[in-house]
Amino acid sequence: MAYEVIIPAAGQGKRMGAGKNKLLLELNDIPVLIHTLRVFEEDKQCAGIILAIAPQDESSFRKLLKEYGIHKVAAMVYGGEERQYSVYNGLQAATTKGVVLVHDGARPFIDVHLIHQLVVAADEHGSAVAAVPVKDTIKRVQQNEVVETVDRSSLWAIQTPQAFRMSILKRAHEHALEINFLGTDEASLVEKLHYPVKIVEGSYDNIKLTTKEDLYFAEAIMKKTGR
Ligand code: CTP
Ligand code: MG
Repeated sequence: MAYEVIIPAAGQGKRMGAGKNKLLLELNDIPVLIHTLRVFEEDKQCAGIILAIAPQDESSFRKLLKEYGIHKVAAMVYGGEERQYSVYNGLQAATTKGVVLVHDGARPFIDVHLIHQLVVAADEHGSAVAAVPVKDTIKRVQQNEVVETVDRSSLWAIQTPQAFRMSILKRAHEHALEINFLGTDEASLVEKLHYPVKIVEGSYDNIKLTTKEDLYFAEAIMKKTGR
């Protein structure tokens, strides 16, 4: 089933501390951004990529797309101050009336099978997100003192891709703007509408490169998957 994907790539990578957008860092000599884009470039079901970028990255990103033969980028838009606004700007350039995916540029280890599961689930249920069960024991803490242990059996760590019927994602973003809600993912905007969001169990390999330590994990995942 065909889909379009919005890729927020307009962050500054502050927590990575590389002094530049972390998507320009290389894994096996290939920029993180390209690792992520290649998955969609090679997926026949992907009808188009919309990339949200920061103005200061535009020339280097354009060069990389050319160098690595990424042809599916249908639109590049400037991102906003927050990730949510970057996705919103991307949404204005989306054209599908079917399913639209949102996937962080900083998650290069996404696999195409999971993408397809999410697309089918979103088509059927409206919204679907990739997630994995939480492995750690999670406690609620106040002023460095444990308040309670949260029942882990119902806790999932939410990732991207997140897939939506286009009409739902649009409505969710407009509603979030109206009520001045800022979420850390798209599903949280859909939740504000009280629409159902399905979980598709993903992989622990689908990490987001956030801090320096994640680069060690990335090396190991690259080795394991032979990328
Ligand atoms: N992103 C974006 N626009 C923003 C902020 C983030 O498009 N205003 C993108 C990032 O480029 C990344 C994804 O959203 O691909 C996830 O965000 P995050 O991991 O927080 O990346 P950064 O914001 O770049 O990192 P940091 O928060 O450490 O500065
Ligand atoms: Mg950020």
